Amino acid sequence: MRFADRKVLVLGGNSGIGLACAHAFAREGGAVRITGRNPATLARATRDLPGSRGDSVDISDMNATKNYFSVLEREWDNLDVLVVNAGMGGFSTVDDLAVDYWDEVHAINLRGCVFAMQQAARLMGEGGAIVVTGSIGGHAFVPGNLAYGSAKAGLAFSMRQFAGELVERGIRVNMVSPGPIETPLLYRNPGMSEDEVAAMRKQMVAAVPMKRMGRPEEVAAAVLFLASGEASFITAANLFVDGGAVEIG
Ligand SMILES: NC(=O)c1ccc[n+]([C@@H]2O[C@H](COP(=O)([O-])OP(=O)(O)OC[C@H]3O[C@@H](n4cnc5c(N)ncnc54)[C@H](OP(=O)(O)O)[C@@H]3O)[C@@H](O)[C@H]2O)c1
Repeated sequence: MRFADRKVLVLGGNSGIGLACAHAFAREGGAVRITGRNPATLARATRDLPGSRGDSVDISDMNATKNYFSVLEREWDNLDVLVVNAGMGGFSTVDDLAVDYWDEVHAINLRGCVFAMQQAARLMGEGGAIVVTGSIGGHAFVPGNLAYGSAKAGLAFSMRQFAGELVERGIRVNMVSPGPIETPLLYRNPGMSEDEVAAMRKQMVAAVPMKRMGRPEEVAAAVLFLASGEASFITAANLFVDGGAVEIG
């Protein structure tokens, strides 16, 4: 029960890794709120998580984010744990890269996450913990990954910047960077056929020394560790949860 009486917010908590985090925090006593965009999966997630609450907030919409945190402040007063997990994927070669795709990825995965962190940090104090979901794609070469990788690399930089500026207030900020994880993200690549997704999945597994995809629960375990008192001397760390892909792949 590492999170008993802790107020936990998971941004992007209605699917995949974020949903696994929400369940894990709730199992360990946390009061959990989640956000996402899809009202149906938000409703399903909160139904399965007694006492939780889900709100539809598009993280790329700066006004919606600001309004959400005003409401949160009125209702919760303060926040103990923030998981910045909302994100979109997709691939595009250097040659095919389109401005609209670049802008959308950066508006969600970088700008949206950074300004949500800014808002949330104002509600946090001594003992607070922020965990950001990065990606091995923000660290190492992955084909077709220029836009996504650049947004995640920016997010890794931002994580360190927040960690440095919040350390005096007793707030720790860390990142988990997953390798390929079995979540709905894989199937959200517009324009990719089922066969193309299957081929991409095979390629991803081949690049992982452990020769398998990771499970959302395996990422959630790392998120909970970094958010917990067990990581009390850890800030600005970037923990790869990738079956060895970055270091020995
Ligand atoms: N799966 C992987 O292999 C992998 C690897 C490395 C890093 N990651 C990162 O892990 C995080 C979670 O991804 P996942 O694999 O669990 O995928 P997922 O199942 O597609 O989950 C993505 C989450 O982000 C939310 N989200 C997306 N765009 C949003 C927006 N504009 N506003 C608010 N919420 C938004 C989604 O909510 P809605 O469904 O309601 O839009 C959902 O909750 C992402 O940051 C992703 O980049 C994943």
